[in-house]
Formats: sequence, structure tokens, C-alpha cells
Amino acid sequence: SSPDLDKFFQVALELTRKGGQLVRTAFDQPASIVLTKSSDTDLVTETDQAVEKLLIAGLGKAFPDHKFIGEESAAAGQKYTLTDAPTWIIDPIDGTTNFVHRIPLVAICVGLTINKEPVVGIVYNPITNECFSAIKGRGAFKNGFPIHVSSTEALNKSVICTSLGIHNVVGVGPAWLDRALENHKKTVIAGVRGHRAFGSAAINMVYVAQGSIDAYIEYGLHSWDIAAAVVICREAGATLLDPTGAAFDLMSRKVLVAGTEKLAREISGVFTHTDFEREGEE
Ligand code: IPD
Repeated sequence: SSPDLDKFFQVALELTRKGGQLVRTAFDQPASIVLTKSSDTDLVTETDQAVEKLLIAGLGKAFPDHKFIGEESAAAGQKYTLTDAPTWIIDPIDGTTNFVHRIPLVAICVGLTINKEPVVGIVYNPITNECFSAIKGRGAFKNGFPIHVSSTEALNKSVICTSLGIHNVVGVGPAWLDRALENHKKTVIAGVRGHRAFGSAAINMVYVAQGSIDAYIEYGLHSWDIAAAVVICREAGATLLDPTGAAFDLMSRKVLVAGTEKLAREISGVFTHTDFEREGEE
């Protein structure tokens, strides 16, 4: 029921702010130890691990029957499946490469799903002090003020975020890169106003939510990159789709989000799509 959602949100927000202090402190220091995970472009720092620990410990204490899917727990080999149980989906630092390079576009992402549906989302950039949040049915906010998507309907009037494909080469092979570059070319030919790639899926998404950019499309993601931002985008009026135009699926490792359905459908039609195995399957 909705009083529960308020409580879940408040506890998560307080912990996210504490995590933000860790990120901020580390960001201001000259260097942190960087480890690589699946490849040389897949980074993790001690701060990612510390923030995830803090969030899971705090939320686990407050809500002992809730479940967790966390980026760093998954990287450490923990199996995860999305069930109907209340599940916190956490990315302690989305934009780890930005964090390592001291580019101030990073976000702590804390999302909650109930019956597999994202219902609470917090995307917090502790460097710029931008806190995006939403509870299902109550609107989307940035630092307490309501936000809304843009009303742009045509690609040739849009600024869009895409990934340059670097992460996705891993596991899919070199064909992926050709496809990413070809898709890039097709949007240019279609007359897109501008491309951006902020290096954090969550920041790309909340920038759609606040209407700064008109759409975002990416392949090869994980649920923790997007779960929190999904609620914020939906509450800000965004259309979320699978890039193919099918219904959005949190575990499908891809996303297309736009301010209007018309723009989402145009972008879907322009792109050549790539399929991934769903994550979090038994
Ligand atoms: C990454 C960022 C990036 C996206 C990658 C993600 P991380 O998340 O969201 O924008 O292109 O696919 O893995 O590793 O920094 O949490």
C-alpha cells in the first residue's frame, strides 16, 4: 500500500545521502584504487563496494524480508533473480568510469520493485547535488521540484543520448561496434539535432525525465543501471519501450526512453536492433 512506499522511500533516501557523502569525499581525493571486472572497460572502485554495502546493510536492517540485486554483489558472483518480492535494485555508482576520471556525472541509483514493477526510484548525483526521485503515481522530482519530459516529437528536433558502444563490444563481438556506428550514422542522416553520451545510463535517463534531452537508447545495460530511473522517467511522463518497439522489459538489457511516444517510435524505426539474453534468469 502507499504508506509503505513512503516509508521505503524515506529510508532509502537517507541511506542514499549517506552513500553520497562517501562518493563526494572520495571524488575530492586525488586517486582511488581501480579494479577491472569483466574487461578493461568494466571498472569498480572501493567506493562502489562501500556504498553498495552501506545501502544493503541499512535497507536489510529496516526491511528484513526485502530482497536485493546489486551491481557489485552480482560482480562478486552472487546469483540474482527478479521475483515478486519487494526487491531493491542498486547501482552504488552508475558512471564508474566518470568517477574514476573525475568527471562529475555519477549517480547512486536505488530502485525498488514490487511484483517485478519499479515503484520507487532515487537517482542521486552527490557531486552536483542533484537528487531525482519518484514514487509510483506521485510524480517525479528533482531536489523537491516537479520535473517533466520534453514534448518533442521529431528526431530532427531532438537531442538524444546514445552509447558509443564501447561496453557492449564485450560478449557480443566486433559486429556490435559496426552496428553501433551504423545506428549513429542513421540518426545523423535522419537529421538529429545532437548526440550526447554522459557515461551514466541513469543520468541519461533522468535528463530525459527533466526534458533536457529528448530521448535515450542503449543496449547491453543491466537492471541496476536503469531500475531507479525507470520510475522517475515514467512519473515525468516519458514513454519507455524496448528498442524494437515491444513493451519495455527491465531485465532485457536494453532501453529506449523518450519524452513522447511518437519520438520513441521514430527512433525505434531508425535503429538496427541487437538482442541480449535476459538477465536474472534461474
Ligand atoms: C555503466 C554506465 C554507462 C553504460 C554502461 C554501464 P556503471 O554503468 O551506465 O553509461 O554505457 O553500460 O555499465 O558500470 O558505471 O555502473
